[in-house]
Amino acid sequence: MASNLTWHEASITKHERREKQKHHSFILWFTGLSGSGKSTIANQLAKALFQKGIHTYVLDGDNIRHGLNKDLSFSDEDRKENIRRIGEVSKLFVDSGQVVITAFISPFQEDRDQVRELLDENEFVEVYIECPIDVCEERDPKGLYQKARSGEINGFTGIDAPYEPPVNPEITLNTAHKSVDECVKALITFLEKKKWV
Ligand code: ADX
Repeated sequence: MASNLTWHEASITKHERREKQKHHSFILWFTGLSGSGKSTIANQLAKALFQKGIHTYVLDGDNIRHGLNKDLSFSDEDRKENIRRIGEVSKLFVDSGQVVITAFISPFQEDRDQVRELLDENEFVEVYIECPIDVCEERDPKGLYQKARSGEINGFTGIDAPYEPPVNPEITLNTAHKSVDECVKALITFLEKKKWV
């Protein structure tokens, strides 16, 4: 860490922003295999929340890896750094009073726990987008499973790189059995029950 740094307190607090916007700010942290439906559900949910007047933003693995994290590979170490940066960025969004929906494989429990640690209580919701690998492989929306099987891609999550399912997620959505609409509804019901939206 660099030295000679001073932390400046913000003139507008997170709580003031929440009060003005009339909703809580927090992260819905989606985790799951490639092709499990993270991005699709995240974007549908964002649309539904937007229509309810909620300030929301989606951070998505493929997109972030085109910009902020384009220097990172898919080694264990770089995936860890990917999640660390996203965690920090998400925290800024939460400070700004927004609902952040993140869609990253985030294969390691330790890394997800570290993001949870960065935030206050009631600001981090781990959402397991559960889907058996054979169903993800069947969907193969980007043709990547095929490339992984043929050896064109090495270290592909679920094939020859690990995925650790969440130990104690707040929500689990099985996309092999539930439609996108059903998943979105389940998430909104969860948030309404908490009176967060
Ligand atoms: S993470 O493991 O670091 O959390 P992230 O969510 O950012 O991954 O990116 C995953 C996306 O990158 C996948 O949906 C897929 O489109 C693409 N991808 C390319 N190579 C790999 C790989 N080796 N393993 C997993 N996903 C990959």
